[in-house]
Amino acid sequence: MTLTSVIRSTGSFLPARILTNKELETIVDTTDEWIVQRTGIEERHIAAKDEPTSFLAINAAKNALESSGLRPEDIDGVIVATTTPDQSFPSVAVKVQAALDLKPGPAFDVQAVCSGFIYALSVADSMIRSGSMNRVMVVGAEKMSSLLDWTDRSTCVLFGDGAGAVILEKSEQEAQGILSTHLYANGRLNDLLYTDGGVSTSGTAGHIIMHGKEVFKNAVTLMADIVEEVLTKNNVSPENIDWLIPHQANLRIITGTAEKLGMSMDRVVVTVNKHGNTSAASIPLALDDAVRSGKVQRGQLLLLEALGGGLTWGAALIRF
Ligand code: ACO
Repeated sequence: MTLTSVIRSTGSFLPARILTNKELETIVDTTDEWIVQRTGIEERHIAAKDEPTSFLAINAAKNALESSGLRPEDIDGVIVATTTPDQSFPSVAVKVQAALDLKPGPAFDVQAVCSGFIYALSVADSMIRSGSMNRVMVVGAEKMSSLLDWTDRSTCVLFGDGAGAVILEKSEQEAQGILSTHLYANGRLNDLLYTDGGVSTSGTAGHIIMHGKEVFKNAVTLMADIVEEVLTKNNVSPENIDWLIPHQANLRIITGTAEKLGMSMDRVVVTVNKHGNTSAASIPLALDDAVRSGKVQRGQLLLLEALGGGLTWGAALIRF
């Protein structure tokens, strides 16, 4: 018997405060026009001081649990993808476990920056396929605003806060759920995108430093390559993909990938305009948005892909 893992439900949470491009014009030397033209971002949500990443993660996870019709005791483990934990330890995942009153089981964070959700999904999928878990809560949650230098216009306009979650569940049906996951990193490119601080160096979280043009070029090439790999491995063609759900960093990277696939933008889930780049939260936020708006339907074929600091990148093909 072959075990597979399927997405039972999705959930998400965005902090109430919305920061528009117009408002950013009053903070740094920028314009709404520049931000929209270069990135597609119109606004982003920003968490309050007393709303740490765990607050966002817990609310997204609760939302996914409510949609699933399951009880807390039905969940065996929690994985949270985040780069912005509340504390150096304990993990955000154990806070989700406690807040949802889940039973004891594995709970841990994974850190792969913007690719974090794909990494976490891949780990959860492996745990389920190995038979050791029946259901895993997988969350992507970030308070990226806490890593921003609000005087650096080249980065502070790009990011936002939020969280998304899925409950992954064991299935015995073949060709369902997570069909394949593909994970990569190239540490030689770690200086293209990083924070200028950390626990064991400056003792602070630091701020994001990004060589945007270089990241952009790598993103376009690596996303095209990994998408090709997913299609070949699964013997599917771009016409078979119902929805491309990319990491929401920049509309130009998203359209570039869609063009390479020959997919029209009406089969691409875009939330970057409203969310900005929420790093590990961006894909589960986009997925939940598309599920709740009725775009993504059961049985459809979804292609997820992301690239982030590390550089790390990854993709997943899912029969939803
Ligand atoms: N407002 C106005 N002008 C600006 C702003 C701003 N907010 N930011 C930069 N500029 C100026 C620059 O100073 C520069 O001016 P100059 O020509 O006088 O020197 C000019 O605009 C062009 O700047 P570039 O950085 O070359 O602009 P580019 O077209 O490359 O766009 C961007 C920048 C949007 C960051 C783009 O490079 C990008 O999206 N890169 C990829 C981001 C990404 O995918 N990151 C991965 C995930 S993030 C993660 O993992 C945490």
